[in-house]
Amino acid sequence: MTLDGPPLIEARGVSKYFGKVIAIEEISLQVRPGEVVCLLGDNGAGKSTLIKILSGVFPADSGSVLLEGEAVHFASPRDAIARGIATVYQDLAMIPLMSISRNFFLGSEPRRQIGPISIIDFAYADRITRQKLDQMGIHLRDTTQSVGTLSGGERQSVAIARAEYFGAKVLILDEPTSALGVKEAAVVLRHIVQARARGLGVILITHNVNHAYPVGDRFLILDRGRSVGTFSKAELRPDQLLSLMGGGEELSRLSHELESYARAVDAGAVPIEPPVQVGEDVAGGA
Ligand SMILES: Nc1ncnc2c1ncn2[C@@H]1O[C@H](COP(=O)(O)OP(=O)(O)OP(=O)(O)O)[C@@H](O)[C@H]1O
Ligand SMILES: [Mg+2]
Repeated sequence: MTLDGPPLIEARGVSKYFGKVIAIEEISLQVRPGEVVCLLGDNGAGKSTLIKILSGVFPADSGSVLLEGEAVHFASPRDAIARGIATVYQDLAMIPLMSISRNFFLGSEPRRQIGPISIIDFAYADRITRQKLDQMGIHLRDTTQSVGTLSGGERQSVAIARAEYFGAKVLILDEPTSALGVKEAAVVLRHIVQARARGLGVILITHNVNHAYPVGDRFLILDRGRSVGTFSKAELRPDQLLSLMGGGEELSRLSHELESYARAVDAGAVPIEPPVQVGEDVAGGA
């Protein structure tokens, strides 16, 4: 981690309101090269709002965003991307029916001239896509296969590779592992560690302490739009992190509740509803 010099990206006292809703208030965050900062908090805590401000989706109502020490006002997400801020959303903005290499180059297709005509250079796109994914340890049989045939984890990996190839300095990932199984999540988390080793700054949003703790250098915890604090890994154990997120007590209360509910069900004290019959009269015997 490089600690001298200004942060790659910084939010300073940023607030955003939607009508009367305080989405975030007075939030500050710094990300340095080779650092992973995890953004944690319950649903509606303001995590996505903060990263949307950092990726040019909308401006803050107050406070400022700085890139390498200089105040910036992103005109659009494209503007943020041009300045090296790459954001991977959970739904990814990939086109499932298009090939992996077409998705890799989406919006920036390499072209070549045949006489007066400029055409997309598919061979080049395939070659570069394969090479970049290989470098990340993703060995695809065929980059011309459609993205729809990839698993969720592979899609996230392609999106991360794409961001790096197009020169991202800051990689922002909004819940990249939430829909993934354990093995797939591990693959994506490994890419985050590699991106950090290559000197990128990473902002990782997740609900999962088990995903955040192993890869995070620092943790910013939000609670209903406000900062609970920023902690370095050295200051916190995973269980402390969980309880700061408000998840510790919540989970133990929930598990008690569920255990007594299960006991009541076993004892026949709770009426069990019959299973819902779905689509009986829709199928029409077909
Ligand atoms: N476009 C919008 N219009 C109105 N209210 C919004 C909008 N976007 C977010 N909010 C509100 O701002 C608050 C913070 O939302 P945000 O999406 O940032 O939370 P989050 O931490 O990302 O939650 P989750 O974990 O569920 O994704 C919520 O109360 C939400 O309803
Ligand atoms: Mg969100």
